[in-house]
Amino acid sequence: MEQTKWFKNRVFYQIWPRSFKDGDGDGMGDLHGVYEKLDYIKSLGCDGIWFSPLYPSPGADCGYDIADYMDIAQEFGGMEAFKKVLDGAHQRDMKVIMDLVVNHTSDEHDWFQKSRQRIDPYTDYYIWRPAKPNGKLPNNWDSLFEGKAWTYDEVRGEYYMHLFAIKQPDLNMDNPLVREEVKKILKFWLDLGVDGFREDVITFISKAEGLPNDYIMPASKGLNLYNHGPHIHEYLTEFKRDVLDNYDCVTLAEAPMVDPKTALTYIQEGPKQEIDMMIQFQTQCADSFLSDYYPMPFSLKKLKKAFTNWQTKLDGKGWNMLYLENHDHPRIISRYGSEKFWKESGKMLAVSYLFQKGTPFIYQGQEIGMLNWRPESPDMYEDVQTIWEYKNHATNKSDEKRLKRLWRSSRDSARTLVQWDNSPNAGFTTSETPWFHVNPNYVDINVAQQEEDPDSILNFYRKAVALRKKLSCVFDGNYIEYNKNSNKLYCYSRRNGRQKILVVCSFSDKPQRFTAPKDFHTDLARLELCNYPESDPKKLKPYEARVYLWR
Ligand code: NOJ
Repeated sequence: MEQTKWFKNRVFYQIWPRSFKDGDGDGMGDLHGVYEKLDYIKSLGCDGIWFSPLYPSPGADCGYDIADYMDIAQEFGGMEAFKKVLDGAHQRDMKVIMDLVVNHTSDEHDWFQKSRQRIDPYTDYYIWRPAKPNGKLPNNWDSLFEGKAWTYDEVRGEYYMHLFAIKQPDLNMDNPLVREEVKKILKFWLDLGVDGFREDVITFISKAEGLPNDYIMPASKGLNLYNHGPHIHEYLTEFKRDVLDNYDCVTLAEAPMVDPKTALTYIQEGPKQEIDMMIQFQTQCADSFLSDYYPMPFSLKKLKKAFTNWQTKLDGKGWNMLYLENHDHPRIISRYGSEKFWKESGKMLAVSYLFQKGTPFIYQGQEIGMLNWRPESPDMYEDVQTIWEYKNHATNKSDEKRLKRLWRSSRDSARTLVQWDNSPNAGFTTSETPWFHVNPNYVDINVAQQEEDPDSILNFYRKAVALRKKLSCVFDGNYIEYNKNSNKLYCYSRRNGRQKILVVCSFSDKPQRFTAPKDFHTDLARLELCNYPESDPKKLKPYEARVYLWR
């Protein structure tokens, strides 16, 4: 019998290093801080860590602009601190995965510096094009962060492509030398002992032949011509065959605009499998149209449809990655829950996804119910995308409206310092000038306070994760959704030959009537988890969540 792959039984914690914990007092989160908190992460029941980029970087996109792939930034403590964290994690039976960002590098990477001077072998490491004879850009594609996807480089006298910020030139993955570099990077970290990679926008690495104009997309022009491009499967297979297959590692691919059917072309288990899990965006779109910058009212039906779609379409074929938050989206209670019912909805949201089939990820601060940050001035934002959006979109609206748009949409809403206690700067640092802001609500929402409170969101996460791990049906049971038409309740069961659970989540701030589905006699079940001390079998309190178990 094939052994279950280790990542299927684990729960991961995502660290966005700059804001997690400053251990050396310089105001920047670092690996010393992570080392101090390994036991804390383990205490949540998490036995895996995904690190957002730790490499040397000028920080134009908070580390997603890499200047050296084979080192750890000094500001994070350098290689020595990393090895200590890696060992510390492994001693605690926690796996560590790195962010692999190879769609683009920093423009300060040595490769780019040489490429712009046409120094071989780097000349074709990036996507360079001359201006068109009429002076136009090489094509009409947009970047996702800063205007068009092309910037003119005076040194080379040509345009380079950047699908993200101007300081993030895209690598030319069609060049076999670049693919060799990627393989060297993979090998370097795997040999050092890391357990896998989260692959940043990996579905963008193969651009359409000839880089044609896009006449279809109304915005983000080009997306359909570089997402899932012509050679993507070939390149991923090459990385797997030449490197990844030689290690017992996991790969997690970030894939904007992917549906389960397309996802399976990458993650379907079997000889052709290229990737282990995918980060999909459909569950992030229950309150927006494609991106957080086109907000819409939250629709529970949309969220349930996305949950169920991924649960059922991947079942028996591929493995789900489960998440509600990461560093690219505003906080989930502020979006899908209710700040008024902060504690209740924070716990309910945990239940909504932690009992699904797949490998769950928890983003730093999610476990204490951190909320969106709402600064009083647009000048307080750091994120390149947010700054661009503010300057260029909705400019005809009032300042107040434009600022509120950022509150709702900005990635910085979820990038404030982790709130450890109620001392200055939330105990994140001893420095008086941390690199970024703290949400003023840290006085009330912080780890120290929640450690003391048995009824806290933090302790609820611990219970939920422990329960998840105890139940075999959560690991391998089937998934069935009930009350599909309700726009107040999300209800699903998980069942295998030995046991079944029923998960009930109210997304309403009013009491809701509840009848368990047929075959689920709740009087014969044990109520294993609930976010209220008492529950009425026929009625759910605001944002109530329950997990019933039958054996
Ligand atoms: C996705 C990452 O999650 C995001 O933070 C980053 O800005 C872009 N890719 C570009 O690397």
